[in-house]
Amino acid sequence: MKHLLSILDIGSGVAVEALIESSLKLKRDTLAGRKGARGQLSGKTVGIIMEKPSTRTTVSFAVAAHQLGAFPLILSSSDMQRKRGETVADTARTLSRYLDVVAFRTFAHSDIEVFARNSDIPVINALTDREHPCQALGDLLTIVEKKKSLENVRRTKIAFIGDGNNVLVSWIYLAAMSGLDFTHAAPRRYSAPREVRKKVAALARASGAKITYTESASDALKGAGVIYTDVWTSMGDEAEAAERQDAFRSYQVNSKLLEAAADDAIVMHCLPARRGEEITDDVIDGRHSIVFDQAENRLHIQKTILLEVLK
Ligand code: CP
Ligand code: NVA
Repeated sequence: MKHLLSILDIGSGVAVEALIESSLKLKRDTLAGRKGARGQLSGKTVGIIMEKPSTRTTVSFAVAAHQLGAFPLILSSSDMQRKRGETVADTARTLSRYLDVVAFRTFAHSDIEVFARNSDIPVINALTDREHPCQALGDLLTIVEKKKSLENVRRTKIAFIGDGNNVLVSWIYLAAMSGLDFTHAAPRRYSAPREVRKKVAALARASGAKITYTESASDALKGAGVIYTDVWTSMGDEAEAAERQDAFRSYQVNSKLLEAAADDAIVMHCLPARRGEEITDDVIDGRHSIVFDQAENRLHIQKTILLEVLK
């Protein structure tokens, strides 16, 4: 894997499993105070370029880099010549001369593709309008921890209730590659794009994954062991906020909806949440919620990703 622009870049379910196993080990080493991978990226510089706001992704990449011995350089596009119109290609060609790896968050996915094409160093997608692969990988790590093994995760129904945007797209690719039972519930026009579904169908045929699309949140919830949601209005979609609130009103993850889920179901959210919109306070702060364990695991998966692309 040279770049991680999409979950598809990982190549196979076996490779996904290896990333999860390696993150579990790195996490155990870190928590036990063992040396583990500490210092493995000594002398390297990790660029973290954000063209949209970010809390978890920025800080987890910076701390991951630091713990591996690398220097994290956090850059906001508003402080760069990008703001004055310097092209993505020229930015990539310049930064390749200084940095060893770049994590890049931007609007159009095509921009990160241009960045990668013009870059001599690995590029990691830190979120675009199409995918958020680091998020989905950290989430799978969290579910494997909670359910004890990937085999147990394969026997667990995962229900994603909400917008078929970047997080969902990375998630269905991951589910399809890894043989999971995954249902997406959303109003039809917010379902995954057709070309994504086509690729997902082929991957699922090969892995035995069960991928279901529905407009019914309660059907999706029935028997689910994992309930996942994301904001109704993502960064960049703000002009559509009012129509999205109308369209998603009946997809709120609240205690009434949770009645249909398994008693030991876990509730996940990539964060930041718009409390009172896609998820209620009592659910996100309630006994089913694991959202901060999920946020913590971004750190452990980022380390694995940095080590992998710099191998
Ligand atoms: N989940 C996530 O990527 O959070 P940030 O936007 O805070 O980085
Ligand atoms: N779908 C959200 C995810 C934020 C981490 C967004 O793109 O804003």
